[in-house]
This record gives sequence, structure tokens and C-alpha cells, in this order.
Amino acid sequence: MKKRVFSGIAPTGDAHIGNYLGAIRQWVKRQDDFDNIFCIVDLHAITVSQDPTILKAKIRELSGLYLAAGIDPKRSIVFVQSQVSAHSELAWILNCFIPVGWMQRMTQFKEKSRKRKEQVSTGLFDYPALMAADILLYDTEVVPVGDDQKQHVELTRDVAQRFNSIYGQTFRIPESLIPEVGARIMGLDDPTTKMSASETAVGHAINLLDSVEVIQGKILRATTDSQRDIVFDGSRPGIYNLLVIYELFTGKSRKDIEAHFDGQGYAALKKELGEVVIEGLRPLQTRYRELTADPTYIDSVLSEGADRARPQAEKTLTLVKERVGLG
Ligand code: TYM
Repeated sequence: MKKRVFSGIAPTGDAHIGNYLGAIRQWVKRQDDFDNIFCIVDLHAITVSQDPTILKAKIRELSGLYLAAGIDPKRSIVFVQSQVSAHSELAWILNCFIPVGWMQRMTQFKEKSRKRKEQVSTGLFDYPALMAADILLYDTEVVPVGDDQKQHVELTRDVAQRFNSIYGQTFRIPESLIPEVGARIMGLDDPTTKMSASETAVGHAINLLDSVEVIQGKILRATTDSQRDIVFDGSRPGIYNLLVIYELFTGKSRKDIEAHFDGQGYAALKKELGEVVIEGLRPLQTRYRELTADPTYIDSVLSEGADRARPQAEKTLTLVKERVGLG
């Protein structure tokens, strides 16, 4: 029996190379090792304001990107969160077992609410309860995510343990799986902040569907420093981030990369990195165009995915309701 994997991405803004290197690429690499469920978490997306037409399009786009990156709907379940109502139902129940203090410790909420000028919704605060529901509905053992989601997976473990200790064994306790390199790709414009879809500055993120010219331009303008040598030095965040991206797209060792750029300047690194990223994303972009040429294909994958996920989710939800004494 393969271990169950569950992971997801919110269809907020454009998917970027942080999502790819930190999450999607790991899912694809280990697709055969696990029994996978990959979700497009649209209910998480509405924790911040969304234009309905754009949100619907982004859900399809992100689904297409999962498939184009190599997620095979025959080997993995791919579905949209809001199409399986058990997610919202379990999130409500879990809410009643999560002390407010646990939620208040979530660094992502603190960061997101600090950045937002308009009102912060209760949903944004409650985001981790829905994420816990996503994971716990499917007896998940492994949650492959980037560094920023680790704390949310910890909270999921805590609430599962708390529930189990009150009602007896109900939930399996999941673990996060975080890549050794690429778990936190930084913004190109500001390498001290994480690359994020909610950051709108033009030079911030390389999006998975960016054109050749746009990718080149963003990398050429990336913030570096006033030193010269091209080495993996964590205290120089700009160059370090560019080198990590280079390492991940080429698969070369750090020693070889440093030797390769020895005596060269930042302009040479940026030019070559642009080429490497463009070539690295090319197969995904080509496949994406092929897949989306048939406008019905993605919807059929998503509807089949939801049909496969629903009975599993319902089974857990029924058990939970039974345990709690609902209904
Ligand atoms: P989201 O949509 O912010 O990000 C999706 C995935 O991409 C990773 N990621 C990054 N990795 C490296 N560098 C970056 N700059 C970077 N930015 C994002 C994230 O760590 C994540 O793995 N709450 C989640 C989605 C979610 C989920 C789940 C994940 C909802 N339910 C259940 C796992 C299991 C989120 O908003 O991720």
C-alpha cells in the first residue's frame, strides 16, 4: 500500500516558479511513490477578495498547469475543493476544536493581515482550519509543500491529535514533506521576501506562463548586490536566490555551478539563468497550450476527480459526525 499524499495550491493570481519548485515539481517527481490527491483550493482563494470571472478562469488555468507539469489524472486525483462539500463541513467542525490562541500564532496570517490595507476577513484567519480539513479528510500521511506551509501542517497534526484524544482514533496524523532545496524561493525584486502570488510588483515573480521576453527582462532586473564573485552564500540573498533557481533548473552541483561562473560577472549569470528557466519551462508551456486547445478536457478531468474524491471525503466526515454526536 502506497502512502496517501494530499497537497494543493490556491488559484490566487498567477502560479509562479516558487509554486513549481517548492511544490508541483516534487509532486510530479514522486508521483509513482505515493497514492496522490492534488487539489485546486478555491475556497482558500476567496479568503481575499476575488473577481468571480477571473477566479473561475484561474481555477482552470491552475488545473491545466498541474497536468502540463506532469500530474497524470490516471495516477493522481485532481479536483477542485469547492466541488467536494465535505471540506467546508469538516472545516467547521474542526473550528470548534482549535483554540483561538493556536490560530493567533500562525505567521502567515500575521504577515498577510499586516500587508492588506482593506479589511481582513474571518476566513483569512480561519484558513488553517480549512487546510486541516483538506488533509484529514483523506487519511493523508504525507503533505508535500514549501517551507511556508509547515506551520499549517503542524497545526493540522495538533488538531488531529486533540480530536483523537477526545473521541478516540479518528484521524491519521500527517507529516509535511519539504524539499531540501527550493522550499523558499525569494522575490526577484526583493530577495528578502518570499516569492508570492499576492505580490503584484512586475519584477517580483516569474510566472509559469510568462513569455520568453518577460522572463529574460525579470531576471535581468533582479536585485543583486555590489559584490563580484558568484558563490552560494546565504548572506547575499539576491545572488543566492538566483543560484538556487539555476541549481534547481539545471540539476548541477553547487561546486560545478561555482566553477562554471568563476571569473564571470552577474550579467553572465543572469543571461544564462534566463535561458535555463526559459528552457526549463518550455515543455510545460507547450503541453499547457496543447491541453487547453480542447476546452472541455480540463473540466472533464476535474469532474471525474471530484467524483473519485467525494466518497473518500464523505466516509471520514460521516465518521467524524458520528464521533461528535451530530445529526
Ligand atoms: P499556496 O497556494 O500559497 O502555495 C502552494 C504551494 O507552493 C508553495 N510555495 C512556495 N514554495 C517555494 N517558494 C515559494 N516562494 C513558494 N510560494 C509558495 C507552498 O508552500 C505550497 O506548497 N494553504 C496552501 C494551499 C493548501 C494546501 C492544503 C496545501 C490548502 N490546503 C492542503 C497542502 C495541503 C497555500 O495557500 O499554498
